[in-house]
Parts: sequence; structure tokens; C-alpha cells
Amino acid sequence: MAEIVIVGNAEEAGELVADAVVALIARKPDAVLGLATGSTPLAVYSALAARAGSLDLGRVSGFALDEYVGLPADHPQSYRSVITREVVEPLGLDPERIHVPNGSTGSIQSAGVEYERAIVAAGGIDLQLLGVGTDGHIGFNEPGSSFASLTRVKTLTEQTRRDNARFFGSPDEVPMHCITQGLGTILRAEHLVLLAFGEGKADAVAASVEGPLAARMPGSAIQLHPHATVVLDEAAASRLALTEYYRYAWANKPDWQGI
Ligand code: GLP
Repeated sequence: MAEIVIVGNAEEAGELVADAVVALIARKPDAVLGLATGSTPLAVYSALAARAGSLDLGRVSGFALDEYVGLPADHPQSYRSVITREVVEPLGLDPERIHVPNGSTGSIQSAGVEYERAIVAAGGIDLQLLGVGTDGHIGFNEPGSSFASLTRVKTLTEQTRRDNARFFGSPDEVPMHCITQGLGTILRAEHLVLLAFGEGKADAVAASVEGPLAARMPGSAIQLHPHATVVLDEAAASRLALTEYYRYAWANKPDWQGI
């Protein structure tokens, strides 16, 4: 099963995951990062941005998990814009090496296949950052997504559109469709790092980590991965059953092992 790490707060989680990214880049300067949007991974990006001066990120490339369909790429809430603003600029990454699925309606039919090809051509994703939606979605793989799915168009649930309305004027302005890496795409990454903070994520976390494998709980796909790390604050961990064991295993983990 995934390794569960319970930390004091999002900043601590950000530092822990930034350590893993730094270690990856040290051993593989042309590392390929899987980039998540949403508020959860911001702690990781700001921890990395604080260290960017001492890192050589010139050969690092990245693949975003998902994109809305039909928003102009320069819309402030397109994931292309969000990734540029929150990741590429603060970390000083090479924009040419950062990929986001193409959500423009004109080329949407082939966008999924092209994205899969681009990931393969880059040698695959080394470390995939993930958040989780309140309904258990990862990327934009809504409940019902196949564990074998690849990058494709999905319809957002009403709950996700309501959750994401905070970035738009109203739920009606949140696009109805998205293009997202599939669960099968995500499972091909070398290392999955899922983060979650706050009480609102506690049910999705418990179901994903300890519940049955089920397409209706997309986060449960991480149970199929040989190297998955789940980094939580106390509130997000509050509905897990085996927390004592997770704390015990973490406290007794050899330092050299990392996450
Ligand atoms: C969005 C993104 C997901 C993200 C999730 C949670 O819909 N597509 O990748 O994990 O919502 O967002 P947040 O981290 O803001 O709670």
C-alpha cells in the first residue's frame, strides 16, 4: 500500500516533498515532473521556489495533469495559465519543456493521443504530484473513470464545478468538460506523491487509501502503484483507521530511504 506520512501542516508537507524533488533532480537533472494544479500542491511549489536559486532546473521538464476544454489558453484560470503563474515562473523552468494538455476545441479529438505520445517521448514521468478532489477525483478523473484510462476528455461532475467555482465568477462559468491524464497514465509514473490537507478531504483520503479498489473512488487507483506516498495534515488523516501504524512506520524509517 501507499506510504502515509502525517505532518503538522501544509508548509511541512511542502518541504518534505520539495526534498524528494531536489533529490530526484540531483540524480537525474533532466527529470520529468508531473504537475498538479489546485491549492494543494502550492506548498510544494513555494518550497521549491525558495530553493530555485541553488538548483539547476534548466533540463527539468513537466507535464500538467489536466486542462479545461474550451477556455482560451490565456484565460487566467486555464491550467496553462495557472501552471505558468504558479510553477514555471516562480521556479524559473524552461516554458518550452512544460506541457499542458491542449484543451482547444478545434484539436480536441487528437489531443489525448498526442499528450500520451509526448509523455512517452520524454521518457515518462518520474514524480507525479497529485491532489484529490472532495469526490475522490485525481487529475480530473471523476468517479467511474477506468483504472486503465489514458488522456481523454471527461465531463466534470456538478460537485467539481461547484468546488472550482471559487476560481471563476460562478459554477456556470466553470467549463463542463476537461481533458485529463487517465488513471492508467498516472499509474505509469515512477513515483506518485498525493497530498491532501483539511477536513474536507478526510473522506476521500480514507476511501482512497484504505477503501476498496473501485472506479467510483478514482483515488483508490494509487493502491495499485508500487511507489506511492500520501502526505497529509492531521485533519485530512482524521478518518484513516491505521494511523498508529503509519506514524510508527514513519518514525522508524531509516533516514537514507527518503519518501
Ligand atoms: C482540481 C484539479 C485536481 C485537484 C483537485 C483538488 O479539480 N483538477 O488536480 O487535485 O481539484 O483541488 P484543491 O487542491 O484546490 O483542493
